Amino acid sequence: MSTHQHPATICIHAGNITENTSLSGVNTPIYTSSAYQYGKDKPNIYPRYFNTPNQKVIVEKLAQLEKTETGLVFSSGMAAVSTTLLGLLQAGDHIILQNGLYGGTYHFAESEFKRLGIEHTFLTDNQISTFQKAIQPNTKVVYIETPSNPLLQLTDLKRVAQLCQESGLISVIDNTFASPINQTPTDFGIDVIVHSGTKYLGGHSDICFGAVLSTNTYIEKIYQRAINLGGSLDAQTCYLIERSLKTLALRVERQSENALKIAHFLSDLSYIKTVNYPGLPAHPDYEMACRQMHGFGAMLSFELAKNDSEKSQEFAESLSLIVPALSLGGIETTICVPARTSHIKMTPEQRQKVGVSDGLLRLSVGIEDVNDLILDLKNTLENFS
Ligand SMILES: Cc1ncc(COP(=O)(O)O)c(C=O)c1O
Repeated sequence: MSTHQHPATICIHAGNITENTSLSGVNTPIYTSSAYQYGKDKPNIYPRYFNTPNQKVIVEKLAQLEKTETGLVFSSGMAAVSTTLLGLLQAGDHIILQNGLYGGTYHFAESEFKRLGIEHTFLTDNQISTFQKAIQPNTKVVYIETPSNPLLQLTDLKRVAQLCQESGLISVIDNTFASPINQTPTDFGIDVIVHSGTKYLGGHSDICFGAVLSTNTYIEKIYQRAINLGGSLDAQTCYLIERSLKTLALRVERQSENALKIAHFLSDLSYIKTVNYPGLPAHPDYEMACRQMHGFGAMLSFELAKNDSEKSQEFAESLSLIVPALSLGGIETTICVPARTSHIKMTPEQRQKVGVSDGLLRLSVGIEDVNDLILDLKNTLENFS
């Protein structure tokens, strides 16, 4: 799908269905039916066939944003991740997964692949030579997540895509943290993009959904599993997503601006041990971020000087404006201790192996006035220095 429009325009205009009545409202109507007439010249439409009008509107917006031919939207990010991987892999195949992934994806791979006869390798680092060494004769898919949750490490999109093309492998990225506003993986040759739409795409902490965007060929493969697994979305939620997507560019740009200021503020404090944010020149992947991201994103993580789980949880709960909460990407700034939330399903040893310390704090920056956010952090940090 080629478009010359810019993301902020796509967010608002792409795919909308103009009301087919004399009223001609500017918003897509909510088509509440789960039963549609079928027959000559009428395709079989059904929510679990992923082809209702409201589903198609958001697919169109997301496909244009990610510069793909088409896509599917699901009832959660994990439905998108799991259906995508089960659609692209079968018994006897092998998948390579990068080091450092969202805990739920890690847990899915660990608990589901083996019993389905799918082999998998988790990398110990994300150097391109490490990806290369992990390729086996039966490897089919390489799965990456960049920036990664919660350490904000980057993986080189261009080199991974190139390696996959040379080796006949399918590259899949979880683009949740960057959102399509801050990163367009297809520009670098990545084949398949998944999202937890629950985060930036929804953006108001009130919708759970997921999406996969790719070529017609890959989406058809994934679709064959999707209709069996059944993680589809209803019209009301689709409409809320359509409404949310219209402000995606505005929200993410403001969130990213705020995050950069907060990252600089935190990194100047002597009593903060580490700040992980790809927009800081001191970040090991800063140059890669400049090359492959349009903006540095609105997620960051950091460690207090006294880096233990209890202290960090106490800190999160002592903030007055910033909310200790699960999930991320909303317009309100939230904070969590990943060892107690997103990565709780991993054992302490598994977390240690991927570098997620028990006391690490993850901040999802919202659209509030950044001065208020900095003041909240400053006032609370003074008691924890
Ligand atoms: C990077 C990433 N991918 C996937 C998911 C799963 O999404 P959901 O919770 O919508 O199923 C999450 C959830 O936190 C996530 O952070």
